Amino acid sequence: MSKKILVTGGLGFIGSHTVVELQNEGFEVVIVDNCSNSTEEVLDGIVAITGQSPYFERFDLRDKSKVQEFFAKYDDVGGVIHFAASKAVGESVENPLLYYENNLGVLVYILQELTKKGSASFIFSSSCTVYGQADRMPITEDAPVKPAESPYGNTKQVGEEIIKDVCKVNPQLSAIALRYFNPIGAHPSNEIGELPTGVPQNLVPFITQTGVGMREQLSVFGDDYPTADGTCIRDYIHVVDVAKAHVAALQRLVEGENKENFEVFNLGTGTGSSVLEVIQSFERVSGEKLNYRVAPRRAGDVIQAYADTRKANEVLGWEAKSTLDDAVRSAWNWEKKIRDYEKTSV
Ligand code: UD1
Repeated sequence: MSKKILVTGGLGFIGSHTVVELQNEGFEVVIVDNCSNSTEEVLDGIVAITGQSPYFERFDLRDKSKVQEFFAKYDDVGGVIHFAASKAVGESVENPLLYYENNLGVLVYILQELTKKGSASFIFSSSCTVYGQADRMPITEDAPVKPAESPYGNTKQVGEEIIKDVCKVNPQLSAIALRYFNPIGAHPSNEIGELPTGVPQNLVPFITQTGVGMREQLSVFGDDYPTADGTCIRDYIHVVDVAKAHVAALQRLVEGENKENFEVFNLGTGTGSSVLEVIQSFERVSGEKLNYRVAPRRAGDVIQAYADTRKANEVLGWEAKSTLDDAVRSAWNWEKKIRDYEKTSV
């Protein structure tokens, strides 16, 4: 198979870190991104780390004719890692059709092109949100998929179903869905990281923005959950570990080691951390006190979710290497850098 890989959303948070790891492993990368939630400057960071410039095409994948033109131009693309999607849970409740068009319409267009090829590999960004509140911890891949709490969550469930159905009748297509737990952090070079637009909805960017003085105070959403300290538990995983798992998954498909042509893996560390433990980690690595208060629960939050990582460890030969402190430290270093940059560029 050609080692030219399309990375949709390759300028985004997880996408950009994955492009770096792909280039480090000798893959040739073509990024497609519409920069709706990223900037072209991310390319500079990728080049600074790897010394290589990926191909870059800026367009919106919702334009089906552009998707077709892309695959005609890059007819030697042998695989796709598909990150491009909308990911704000609240926004998806307000605007479900945007989510269905962006996250499912685009998926269909790409699969239509891939199924025209003699063989192709496809990696899909799924989420632990498909498990809802799982009955047992840690969560294994065969835990039941629970009804989605939001259109966003539904796009991940339905996205997996679409790929599974398409793979069933297209044996030349091989796909892996990676169910992310909570990716955080930034590249250790400090050249790329997360760039949330507006008020961050996710915990770690909200903490680092509060630490740097951009936000007044973090609200801890609920301290009366049935957990040791009363706050919710998640499996926070360094984004570089997540990126490396994509390369391992792609290698598996490229080398034809997959047992079925649609497989699913959890991407987590296997360790759950409470919101208060993440705050303590931040205070430890930054030496700063975080201003926070306990607020009411957030609708839709599950009590706890952490991964059983054995399948990914054994089958992909991959494991998360970074600790929570490593990941939070990298997120903090990145936050300080981008705020300094903003100060000097105004
Ligand atoms: C959320 C989504 C998940 C999605 C992921 C993608 C929900 C219910 N889940 O994951 O489907 O795949 O984002 O980005 O929205 N917290 C606070 N204060 C804050 C922010 C968060 O206490 O200001 C707490 C939350 O209650 C939660 C934990 O921190 O317990 C992690 O929250 P977050 O980073 O938003 O991730 P998830 O909710 O796990």
